[in-house]
Amino acid sequence: MSSDRAGGQPGPGGQPWRGGQPGLGEQPGPGGQGASREGAPALKIDRLSVRYGHITAVASVSLELPAGAIVAVLGANGAGKSSTLGAVAGSVKAHVSGDVRLFGERVGGRPSHRIVARGMVLVPEGRRVIAPLSVEENLLLGAYRQRSHKQVRAKLGEVHELFPVLRERRGSPAGLLSGGEQQMLAFGRALMADPRVILMDEPSMGLAPAMVDRVIDAVRAINALGKSVLLVEQNAVAALRVASYAYVLDRGRIASSGSAQTMRSDPVVAEVFLGLHESASRASAEQGPGRSEAARS
Ligand SMILES: Nc1ncnc2c1ncn2[C@@H]1O[C@H](COP(=O)(O)OP(=O)(O)OP(=O)(O)O)[C@@H](O)[C@H]1O
Ligand SMILES: [Mg+2]
Repeated sequence: MSSDRAGGQPGPGGQPWRGGQPGLGEQPGPGGQGASREGAPALKIDRLSVRYGHITAVASVSLELPAGAIVAVLGANGAGKSSTLGAVAGSVKAHVSGDVRLFGERVGGRPSHRIVARGMVLVPEGRRVIAPLSVEENLLLGAYRQRSHKQVRAKLGEVHELFPVLRERRGSPAGLLSGGEQQMLAFGRALMADPRVILMDEPSMGLAPAMVDRVIDAVRAINALGKSVLLVEQNAVAALRVASYAYVLDRGRIASSGSAQTMRSDPVVAEVFLGLHESASRASAEQGPGRSEAARS
């Protein structure tokens, strides 16, 4: 299988994307509900591996997002969450192998703009809004798939309806928005591309608890528009409120998976996030108060 990323060259390791094996093997998976017209899951990742030189960030990860579902990928710092999403979205600069299918269509190895054109968009970690540009200009950056001015205005209207604050602040520089508002803007920019599948990288990161609740409500509202959502989070409690199924990523591997209900009491979740909690407590004790981004939200 040839790769068309980086102008037809395979990844830095010299090895192109390899087609994966069919099925998730022994993993039960979250499937069963909400199959698409084609009957295929919205997203199916099979044996995905991501390497940066000698560092293996993701090792043979397989997971499935049924059409119409919200599925969470939980993991602590450095677990490989962003590498997984970046590889799926075609935006990571690394050696990648495995099979990625969007509604049954093989998209692994394609560059990000082609993947967006097929209907899958990444909402990146840290929001990445363009601070000096206005809220509306940021939204329009996501609209390059829309062919006519009329289509763009229609999409903008839909986004404003979902997030009225983006209409109210349309002329403000995006950098003046709070962290939570910037997350709404990042969601809105993704919706402007009219995706079927949205990959969200830690949308709750750095936000105060009340704003985390609003972000989770926004994820639910986006899903209610018919978008399938793969939600990457360190905030397991928040993610398990909205997802139907979850996978735990630990040091690049799937350590556990199951329905959201079972994962709330899963020992692996407790272990991974107890560790996270302890290291976070240690870090804040070392750094002192006032380091949290929450103050900005
Ligand atoms: N560009 C890179 N070059 C080398 N190593 C990298 C690069 N990006 C990530 N890594 C390494 O890959 C591993 C997984 O990183 P990744 O960013 O995917 O984790 P993550 O789960 O998203 O973490 P976080 O919660 O901090 O965002 C880590 O060990 C990280 O140091
Ligand atoms: Mg990350």
